[in-house]
Amino acid sequence: MINFHEVKDDSDLKLIENMANTIWHEHYTPIIGAEQVKYMLDKFQSAQTMRDQINKGYQYFLINSNENAVGYLSFEKRKNALFLSKIYLLKSERGKGIGRKAMEFVTSVAKGFNCTKVTLTVNRFNQNSIRAYESAGFEKKGALVQDIGNGFVMDDYLMEKPL
Ligand SMILES: CC(C)(COP(=O)(O)OP(=O)(O)OC[C@H]1O[C@@H](n2cnc3c(N)ncnc32)[C@H](O)[C@@H]1OP(=O)(O)O)[C@@H](O)C(=O)NCCC(=O)NCCS
Repeated sequence: MINFHEVKDDSDLKLIENMANTIWHEHYTPIIGAEQVKYMLDKFQSAQTMRDQINKGYQYFLINSNENAVGYLSFEKRKNALFLSKIYLLKSERGKGIGRKAMEFVTSVAKGFNCTKVTLTVNRFNQNSIRAYESAGFEKKGALVQDIGNGFVMDDYLMEKPL
């Protein structure tokens, strides 16, 4: 049984911070290297940064499977689009259809907000995730290189799913 729990408490943000540490080191080190992983975790996924993001309009959700937290997601409404900022599952929980359910959840939220599309950015070399997004109806809409400081860039595809 999969459900989505909106994060309000600092204890949940701490739980996400810990999950992000585990997932990002394992998943992104081969893609962007250990130094950039550490930099991006500090910059984007500390409990304090996530609290600041929530105060600016982002929403964070824990993804629970049978009452256990197995991942998290986050999005922000940007005009007529819902921007899916984060969607991460623990490695042991991937490939079981949970990501698909999470993307269906995000789509239904977007429709509730009267958005006309869901957008996201994904690292160009994050091949498995790109396939999962394509299978959920997202299409590549171009490339985007963003300077994130300290000599690092995010080298992404922009993807979009019309609703
Ligand atoms: C991306 C992610 C959320 C997808 O969730 P998931 O539970 O693994 O995906 P699902 O099992 O629901 O599969 C969804 C679809 O994608 C396809 N898919 C998933 N992983 C795939 C892979 N490695 N290769 C090919 N297709 C894949 C599945 O076949 C499925 O398609 P189908 O329903 O038509 O058969 C998850 O794999 C993840 O957390 N990855 C690591 C973190 C990450 O990179 N997140 C995205 C950051 S931008």
